[in-house]
Amino acid sequence: MDMGLNGKVALVTGAARGIGLAIATQLAEEGCLVAVCDLDLEAAEAACRTLAERGSTAIAVSADVSSRASVAAAVARIRAELGPIGILVNNAGFSQDAPLEEMTEEQWDRVVDVCLKGSWLCTQAVVADMKSLGEGRIINIASRAHLGENNKTNYCAAKAGVLGLTSALSIELGKYGITVNSVAPGLIRTERVLGLRYYEDIDRRAKLSTPIQKSGESSDVAAAVVYLASSAAAFVSGDTLYVTGGRYSST
Ligand SMILES: NC(=O)c1ccc[n+]([C@@H]2O[C@H](COP(=O)([O-])OP(=O)(O)OC[C@H]3O[C@@H](n4cnc5c(N)ncnc54)[C@H](O)[C@@H]3O)[C@@H](O)[C@H]2O)c1
Repeated sequence: MDMGLNGKVALVTGAARGIGLAIATQLAEEGCLVAVCDLDLEAAEAACRTLAERGSTAIAVSADVSSRASVAAAVARIRAELGPIGILVNNAGFSQDAPLEEMTEEQWDRVVDVCLKGSWLCTQAVVADMKSLGEGRIINIASRAHLGENNKTNYCAAKAGVLGLTSALSIELGKYGITVNSVAPGLIRTERVLGLRYYEDIDRRAKLSTPIQKSGESSDVAAAVVYLASSAAAFVSGDTLYVTGGRYSST
């Protein structure tokens, strides 16, 4: 099936590894010109070399999505090298857990700044391109954790905020042909997750409460993003696509 993505310029944040890399890879396979944007430029460059070996066009761009100046510089470079940005995937994010009374203000601010404010800043930076194209796709990587998880007040609040941001943007930008959606993954077996000290325990608990009885892969999330970026999803906006193996409750 032609997804209508050939030649489109896609900016994927946090794309040097994990879910972001899988998203960048699948969009590139569909013919997108991809900007692999990450704090870690070396890893982003390595990812682009692999994509280039497979015949795709990809550029590595360093940016901290929580900094307006950094995002502006990255977007200016992408625009100059690849053209106006038609697809934005706000994927960069991380968690820093602590019980409520031990969580520092810095931990709260950093997680909210990257997961929530970063998505807002990147959207602000690219929206003029999408308006000039007369169409656009914004896909925000939220998390099933917006339902609540232990010791993650910062992360859960930020991801719940991403859903609110998605709804508000879809209302504001729909008239320009821009759709805005979220993808909310459950537990996904990225290298980072596999390296967690308590991985076996969370994996066991996740499987017990997941109807499909397994954890997800980065490619599962990427497939959902490709769908939302494609022409097949032209009438889908303001929505959340859960990629959780059927696990919705907060257990
Ligand atoms: N892995 C999971 O189980 C899971 C589940 C639900 C949601 N998510 C979400 O999916 C997204 C990707 O997660 P992942 O597991 O692939 O993480 P990951 O740690 O494997 O990759 C995240 C990437 O983002 C980059 N990054 C971090 N802060 C950045 C910043 N300020 N600016 C630019 N880049 C930055 C990192 O350098 C890294 O390359 C995150 O938003 C995460 O919250 C992950």
